[in-house]
Amino acid sequence: MAKKQAWVHSSSQSRSPSYIFFNVVALSFLCLIGLLIYKLDNFASQTKTIVGHNLEPTPWHIFQPKNFTEESRHARDYKIIQCSYLTCRYAATDGVDQPSEEKRRGLDSTLTPPKCPNFFKFIYRDLEPWFKTRISIDRIIQTKEHAAFRIVIVEGKLFVDLYYACVQSRLMFTLWGILQLLKKYRGMVPDVDIMFDCMDKPTIDKSGVENGSLPLPLFRSEVNIQPWDEQYKEIKQGSQAQTWAKKITHAYWKGNPDVESPIRMELMQCNDTNTWDTEIIRQNWTEEEKAGYEHSKLSNQCNHRYKIYAEGYAWSVSLKYILSCGSLPLLISPKYQDFFSRGLVPKLNYWPVSSNGLCRSIKFAVDWGNANPSQAEAIGKRAQQLMESISMDRVYGYMFHLISEYAKLQDFKPVPPSSAQQVCEESLLCFADDRQKELLMKSAVAAVSSTPPCTLIKRPNPNYFTIWAEQRQKIIDNLKDKENRSNAAIT
Ligand SMILES: *[C@@H]1O[C@H](CO)[C@@H](O)[C@H](O)[C@H]1NC(C)=O
Ligand SMILES: *[C@@H]1O[C@H](CO)[C@@H](O)[C@H](O)[C@H]1NC(C)=O
Ligand SMILES: *[C@@H]1O[C@H](CO)[C@@H](O)[C@H](O)[C@H]1NC(C)=O
Ligand SMILES: *[C@@H]1O[C@H](CO)[C@@H](O)[C@H](O)[C@H]1NC(C)=O
Ligand SMILES: *[C@@H]1O[C@H](CO)[C@@H](O)[C@H](O)[C@H]1NC(C)=O
Repeated sequence: MAKKQAWVHSSSQSRSPSYIFFNVVALSFLCLIGLLIYKLDNFASQTKTIVGHNLEPTPWHIFQPKNFTEESRHARDYKIIQCSYLTCRYAATDGVDQPSEEKRRGLDSTLTPPKCPNFFKFIYRDLEPWFKTRISIDRIIQTKEHAAFRIVIVEGKLFVDLYYACVQSRLMFTLWGILQLLKKYRGMVPDVDIMFDCMDKPTIDKSGVENGSLPLPLFRSEVNIQPWDEQYKEIKQGSQAQTWAKKITHAYWKGNPDVESPIRMELMQCNDTNTWDTEIIRQNWTEEEKAGYEHSKLSNQCNHRYKIYAEGYAWSVSLKYILSCGSLPLLISPKYQDFFSRGLVPKLNYWPVSSNGLCRSIKFAVDWGNANPSQAEAIGKRAQQLMESISMDRVYGYMFHLISEYAKLQDFKPVPPSSAQQVCEESLLCFADDRQKELLMKSAVAAVSSTPPCTLIKRPNPNYFTIWAEQRQKIIDNLKDKENRSNAAIT
């Protein structure tokens, strides 16, 4: 408006037609820019981003939304538009052609990939509900009310439709993982349409939505703090600092009990090294932060012979760290599965602890282990070996096969919805702050894999999984029986 007044004022002094013409053009131009800035502002304030701009938290799990007050409004608008709409279009990696058919075949024939580990079979079990019915686009759309975002992969490109904000930077790291997969196995990942939730509890109330019929196809992802391969090495090294004989002979748990987890609350009652041979340490992140995370360093936490795993609000990332320690893992009857936890066999690579009579059950395990140190050590070693076999290559292999098998079940051709944006490495990095960038770059896949993913064996017959579960349950019941009898003898 100020500009307009200035023009009216100056035009009253000069009457030259060309001058007026010039001013009219200039004014139009300014108006256009003004309009454009206004529109962009409007546009930016409606654009949902992978870091959470213009997104509400998921209604099924409210959390403090992020504040974006550190930058000015214009800087923010500019960033949103730049990162969301312009970056992938000019990105170096985008538009790189898929490898040719010959190149792919060449790769397949020169290097025969090894068979995938046994637990990859569970991909079939997890997808079993849909083998007969398959998955329609309607089914995907129905899942939307439980999803935070939807990804559509078409010809190796990633499109994302955002519905709700995710806590922390979960969305960013999830998408990064998928982009790395697309890079590693370029030209091999099929077109697919997937709904994701990103909150802690990966369950949907069956009765509420389903009338007990078919489950909704919803995916959950996991966030890694540090590149896993490196982390594993660190933990393993830490675990070797002390020989088995020198490790502390009681059970140990350190973590945050204030996460609405009944089992963790119960675990607090076992904190008595004399009665229960158990030590429980409450992790205070505020204090840890002050101390530079020295105490919570994962590699320093393998000094006990027995390490307890207790699920939190839902499943907990700590399982893989506990299994990596080489200590005897005491798992309190887990309800959730991590993709690798199907590799767990009671008494082979972990010790099952019962949630009923928890402290007694832990004490029973410790007594057994101290009476049978070489067996206890061997179980711990096998748990560590299981985790050693889960390299990032395996993780990408698992993602690849899960997505490929899922894609086969979809009976439609995936098309990105009109509200979806393309996301590429560059656009994701564009939104990342310095610390995030560092973590992302550290976990980046260096290049297209020179070997194809491991070979997934064909679908086992349906009995396989029932027998598998029964065998494990039998071992657990057997132990519980021994435990009951030993308790009876004491009391
Ligand atoms: C965002 O700002 C509001 C108001 O200033 C504040 O109450 C809230 O705690 C902030 N949220 C976060 C996550 O910092
Ligand atoms: C579930 O069943 C009820 C009553 O039988 C029906 O009204 C409702 O539409 C069903 N819901 C779904 C999602 O099929
Ligand atoms: C468990 O007991 C030890 C020793 O008495 C104590 O230092 C620790 O704070 C206790 N842990 C919890 C969670 O109360
Ligand atoms: C964690 O430590 C801080 C600082 O020492 C303290 O103010 C806070 O109350 C502690 N929190 C818990 C849950 O113990
Ligand atoms: C062990 O004892 C508990 C409670 O006393 C009982 O619920 C459970 O069925 C028993 N388990 C076995 C395998 O005997």
